[in-house]
Amino acid sequence: MATLEEQRLALQAALDEQKTRAERNRLGQFATPTALAVDILSYADELLLKDAPVQFLDPAIGTGAFYAALLSVLPAQRISEAVGFEIDSHYRQPASELWKDSGLTIKLADFTRELPSGQFNLVICNPPYVRHHHLSDVDKARLQERTYHASGMRLSGLAGLYCHFLGLAHAWMADNAIGGWLIPSEFMDVNYGKEVKQYLLNRVTLLHIHRFDPNDVQFADALVSSAVVWFRNAPPPHHHVVRFSYGGTLTRPRLVDEIPSRNLAHAAKWTHFPGAKVSAEATVATLSDFFQIKRGLVTGNNGYFILDQAAIAAHRLPMEVFRPVLPSPRYLETNEVRADEHGLPVLNRQLFLLDTALPEEEIKDYSRALYEYLQFGISQKVHEGFLCRHRNPWYLQETRPPAPLVCTYLGRGDTGSSRPFRFILNHSVATVTNVYLAMYPLPVLTRAMAKDKSLLRRIWEVLNQLPAEHLLGEGRVYGGGLHKLEPRELARARRFLIRELALRVDDRPFALTGRAGGGRLAGIPDQAEAGGQVSRVAEGDVGVVLDEAVGPGQADQSRQQ
Ligand SMILES: C[S@@+](CC[C@H](N)C(=O)[O-])C[C@H]1O[C@@H](n2cnc3c(N)ncnc32)[C@H](O)[C@@H]1O
Repeated sequence: MATLEEQRLALQAALDEQKTRAERNRLGQFATPTALAVDILSYADELLLKDAPVQFLDPAIGTGAFYAALLSVLPAQRISEAVGFEIDSHYRQPASELWKDSGLTIKLADFTRELPSGQFNLVICNPPYVRHHHLSDVDKARLQERTYHASGMRLSGLAGLYCHFLGLAHAWMADNAIGGWLIPSEFMDVNYGKEVKQYLLNRVTLLHIHRFDPNDVQFADALVSSAVVWFRNAPPPHHHVVRFSYGGTLTRPRLVDEIPSRNLAHAAKWTHFPGAKVSAEATVATLSDFFQIKRGLVTGNNGYFILDQAAIAAHRLPMEVFRPVLPSPRYLETNEVRADEHGLPVLNRQLFLLDTALPEEEIKDYSRALYEYLQFGISQKVHEGFLCRHRNPWYLQETRPPAPLVCTYLGRGDTGSSRPFRFILNHSVATVTNVYLAMYPLPVLTRAMAKDKSLLRRIWEVLNQLPAEHLLGEGRVYGGGLHKLEPRELARARRFLIRELALRVDDRPFALTGRAGGGRLAGIPDQAEAGGQVSRVAEGDVGVVLDEAVGPGQADQSRQQ
């Protein structure tokens, strides 16, 4: 049985086939390849507020490449609304049929004529690339008027339809909504693009522009050099800095740089950015090469699902349906959680998570006390909470095996000497809730750990020595100085451990030197110093080098991220 995406791709190919190239050109009908769509939506997920419901809009949806990608990166229950516009019933009709049970509404309409309604917090679009000479004068005048009204952009008569789509969509975006636009990069250099650039610099917060290498054409049948433009619908902060990347993929670009927006305001051509700097992401190992990083589980109701031993005994609940869970970081006096002979954390505050997949009917026979506890939860409306409502059974917990290393990821940057982020070495079998990130060693690291028993401890020590500002720089800043590090940000955190956790093919034992000593690996020439980049991970021993070890030549590169 073909997956929905396989069915969509087959449909796309069949529908494209039935049209001539000229017909498809007229309405800019060139679909986004699946891998690119998934890359774009994964990136969008990083920019969205964690766990917030998503209202998704695609103003030029075709058969729904972006919606399919959205479903592949987000749990369906997070998508509270999804709307697409499609002018051509040739695509709209079969696409509506394909998606009919999925929560997506495809409206057969000309997006440029629609009255903005609804407040979408995620607008993703590959708009039709229709050049201005294919737009009639009447159409141009109408579009100019409406685009100005929606976005303040006074587009010239030379602007292509895609610029109008971008401007018109502004009126559909909620405050702080994320926009991700796959468009020709031409606007970055030509005269008609000036208004678009003004909009991106002044009306919204431009976050990132990734330009694909024209030699690596994204659309097999449309020869354009494309860019993905990311912004947030919010006024730009002072001293704003925009990420520019080039080549490779959106998530692993070949070049990357950060450009202050005041420089952009004075630059005639934006395709000059990034300069010839090499992306650390593309060439250097990051934490995600060694760990899979996941946020801890969200119980749906901590007060109900997490109990201490006294409460479990008081309710006469069977211990087998509970698993240990670490208490909030404030109850951890040290950064190391030791375990007793059963693997339970040795802590003053021992907590347990109710975690069973048994259906309610079976629980009735298995333990009357547990069944009654579930009924008590129902009487308290725990089962009606957002998460519980979307789980089956409502008390089912996410799978999060115990992680040997966990990180606290909410911290205040203004707490003087106390560290906003803590890495905790967890010897116990306790799982963690979402006040932590769980760090699971990947096989390459697991193998290295098996050879070198003290390796994980050394990594943990290094992580805890990293200067706080290196971590804060990677997280998102919320009001009141609250900093938050999302799993993917932690995984990418380059300032963290860019070349620090580089696995070497070499079998020699490494001495880990501390921060003050410059953190070089004993006996191994520093590849970066020798003029090269540390290459991507190869298997072998792991050595840890701290960021301070960066020499003057490399300091520039680490600033780019
Ligand atoms: C570049 S394709 C993108 C399709 C799809 N979102 C994707 O990424 O594969 C643009 C789509 O917009 C549709 N379209 C063109 N003009 C439109 C308009 N004025 N309003 C709504 N859809 C339009 C085209 O028929 C085409 O399906």
